[in-house]
Amino acid sequence: MFDSFPNLKTSEPLSHHCWYALGGPADYFVEVIDVEEIPKLIKEAKENNLPYFILGGGSNTVFHDEGLRGLVIKITASNLEFNDNIITASPGVPMMRLVKESMDRNLTGLESLFGLPGTLGGAVFGNAETHKTSIGDAVVEATLLDPKAKDPDKLIKTVDKDYFQFRYRHSHLHETGEIILEVTLKLQKITEEDLADEELKTLRNKATEALNFRKDHQPTGRNNGSFFKNPPNDYAGRLIDVAGLKGTKIGGAYISEKHGNFFMNDGTATTEDLIALRNLAKETVKEKFDITLEEEVRIIMPDGKILS
Ligand code: EPU
Repeated sequence: MFDSFPNLKTSEPLSHHCWYALGGPADYFVEVIDVEEIPKLIKEAKENNLPYFILGGGSNTVFHDEGLRGLVIKITASNLEFNDNIITASPGVPMMRLVKESMDRNLTGLESLFGLPGTLGGAVFGNAETHKTSIGDAVVEATLLDPKAKDPDKLIKTVDKDYFQFRYRHSHLHETGEIILEVTLKLQKITEEDLADEELKTLRNKATEALNFRKDHQPTGRNNGSFFKNPPNDYAGRLIDVAGLKGTKIGGAYISEKHGNFFMNDGTATTEDLIALRNLAKETVKEKFDITLEEEVRIIMPDGKILS
């Protein structure tokens, strides 16, 4: 199966592709540099009744200890073109590169996202956001692949920003399962006069502030950033903190002492440890505050379904 893809790997350890360094093997694993390969891969997976999973930078995904009985398509396609203040980019472009190259060209709009892990595709899918700046704010349009389309003419489509229905850490693609093949972004160009106005310095400062905030408030080590989304009008980290759960450890997974919404792998954790810790946090917060926390990190089960 998938023999025509030169990048095919079998029994590929998924722990090598996720920030948590967790997860067993994928039966089939293909790294995609050219997005045109994606429809062909999905077609073959479907013909063989195999689940498939689209992976970006692995900074919001954890696979089960037993891995995936199907195909992982890791998107590393990373074309990045600047045309004045318009950017056309492949989904596999790392966010760090996108933000840095935009700043190098005196384009403003993304600097608060400096330091964000993962790829553009994953960021747009989840409307990644820090310090009230969302990637969705910069999106103009995108090319999507609809794996459910029966009509081959409708397989690939171009949609505008409104289609995404961006809101806090959410896009419409969560509902549709469509796959991003290309994104067009629009930023604001800083002019020579603005430079005299020290605008550029402010821009650089914003990026530095974003990095410093991370350093001061968030732990380093093996984690996936915020584990839960913030519930309306509150903070998952605060709730887990007040519930007295910081430092709680199950197997090799523990809740950071620095920030209650950071779930860590001490290097010996299994995905089952992480799931047990997640269950404990959800149950405790529900019991104490009657609030149901919703995961930001997606835990993928061996059948390709997301743990709910
Ligand atoms: N807080 C506590 N105890 C804790 C942690 C936080 O009381 O252990 C309190 C803080 O004092 C603060 C509030 O909770 O009043 C919010 O905490 P913080 O400022 O650290 O921000 P956050 O809401 O936890 C969000 C994003 C982060 C992003 C920061 C900065 C979510 C789920 N997380 O964190 O995103 O970096 O704001 O913009 O919205 C990520 O997506 O991986 C991520 C780290």
